[in-house]
Amino acid sequence: MPDTNIDNQRMEKIVSLCKRRGFVFKSSEIYGGLNGVWDYGPLGVELKRNLKDYWWRVMVHERDDVVGLDGSILNHPDALKASGHADGFSDLMVDCRTCKSRWRDDQIVDKGKGKRCPNCGGRDLTEPREFNLMLETHIGSIKPGSGPTYSMHSTGMTGASGAELPPQGLQTQVEIKHPTGEQVALVYLRPETAQTIFVQFKNVLDTSRKKLPFGIAQIGKAFRNEINPRNFTFRSREFEQMELEYFCRPEQGMELLEYWKEERLKFYENIGVPRTKLHVLNVPDADRAFYSKGTYDIEYEFPFGRQELEGVAYRTDYDLSQHQKASGKSLEYFDEETKQKFIPHVVEPSAGVDRTVLALICEAYTEDEAPDEKGKMETRTVLRFHPRMAPVKCAVFPLLKNKEPLVAKAKEIVEMLRPHMFVFYDESGAIGRRYRRQDEIGTPFGVTVDFETLGEKDAALRDTVTLRSRDSMEQERVKISDLVAKITASIR
Ligand code: GAP
Repeated sequence: MPDTNIDNQRMEKIVSLCKRRGFVFKSSEIYGGLNGVWDYGPLGVELKRNLKDYWWRVMVHERDDVVGLDGSILNHPDALKASGHADGFSDLMVDCRTCKSRWRDDQIVDKGKGKRCPNCGGRDLTEPREFNLMLETHIGSIKPGSGPTYSMHSTGMTGASGAELPPQGLQTQVEIKHPTGEQVALVYLRPETAQTIFVQFKNVLDTSRKKLPFGIAQIGKAFRNEINPRNFTFRSREFEQMELEYFCRPEQGMELLEYWKEERLKFYENIGVPRTKLHVLNVPDADRAFYSKGTYDIEYEFPFGRQELEGVAYRTDYDLSQHQKASGKSLEYFDEETKQKFIPHVVEPSAGVDRTVLALICEAYTEDEAPDEKGKMETRTVLRFHPRMAPVKCAVFPLLKNKEPLVAKAKEIVEMLRPHMFVFYDESGAIGRRYRRQDEIGTPFGVTVDFETLGEKDAALRDTVTLRSRDSMEQERVKISDLVAKITASIR
């Protein structure tokens, strides 16, 4: 049985380290924060970029059969109507009348004695009701005073959620009154990157001239008005996805669904998430989207429980068929061999950037024992990132900051390493403290320039440095000229 107290404490320490060392901040923190929205600080942004770059490398650059796309965040309402999001992308919501908290229906557990509020334990709960998760905005001039204004009648230009509107009649539709002469249209912030891929399928096919099976990959922001964002960045209202839509012939769908399982598990292993902490959950028929012929989730053992990192779904030809029907434009593929036209099927591995970043941090977070300056054992906090993912790859230290030749040499090394990796120079404080600061942010290598580097004690050691490993804390003497090769071998 997992000890939830220990897991909660671990999560608290991780959240605190993320803020203290500049990985993740609450959005608009100085204004009290915006719930479910996060900003990535100087180290968080590096970690995130390393993850996205590696995904792109593996999923696009190292394959012949995948091309990329960077679609827009603002999506045409007709596209999201056709995909089913405008009408059906909702969760069931329940309010607690006692403490006024709001929950997704599936978060309210009935332990045998009826449903209770997870916050106050109260039983005075509303009936579950549909809540559309899409976020809306408008394009066209919406200066104050020039519109648009809302009324509660329904028209063709509709908003989907009515989420924050007054309680009566908020079913789904609101009218937008145009300011004179202006064209104002309701658009959605995309709830998944996938739909921009489907909508551009024909353009990409025509310009890339790929043959089935082939994929279109995209990394980008998605927005969902989650009822109850929680578990730090795990469930956010603004997040990033890394999605591949892998188009194929209908008869290849099930086989490809299986093929992507191993590929995706390998990916997580290659960024430092061990296979033993990953689980594949086959989504039961009843829980799958009606158009999917098979779906599984790749889950990770977070401190707050086993949760989804990525969903892989065989979506059949549903999306392209829907867009073809709604747009009236052909999204068919012409098979040169059989001379037949058909709508391709698609298998979709869809991963979350923020969730994977969080998994990397949770996995890396370690406390061990190490001697301090005086040899006394102390607790050391280390982020044991895979070197490929680590935000800073190497820290360079002159042993003393007031010895000009040491400083000059250290800065020379920084310049030498810089074109190959993200390097950090630090001259302040005792060397042991400097190592600890780097351990805490997961820097895998530390280079120290000492008097031996200058050849003062032994001419044979001139132009060598100590290279310290974060994990073993062992140091080896390495020639400066070997540093680039030695470090790049493990960060690629
Ligand atoms: N196109 C398919 C799709 O969007 P999904 O399971 O809803 O499927 C895919 O989302 C992935 O996106 C999830 O596995 C998760 O990693 C990430 N994701 C979804 N909602 C999220 C949220 N509210 N906050 C953070 N990540 C989220």
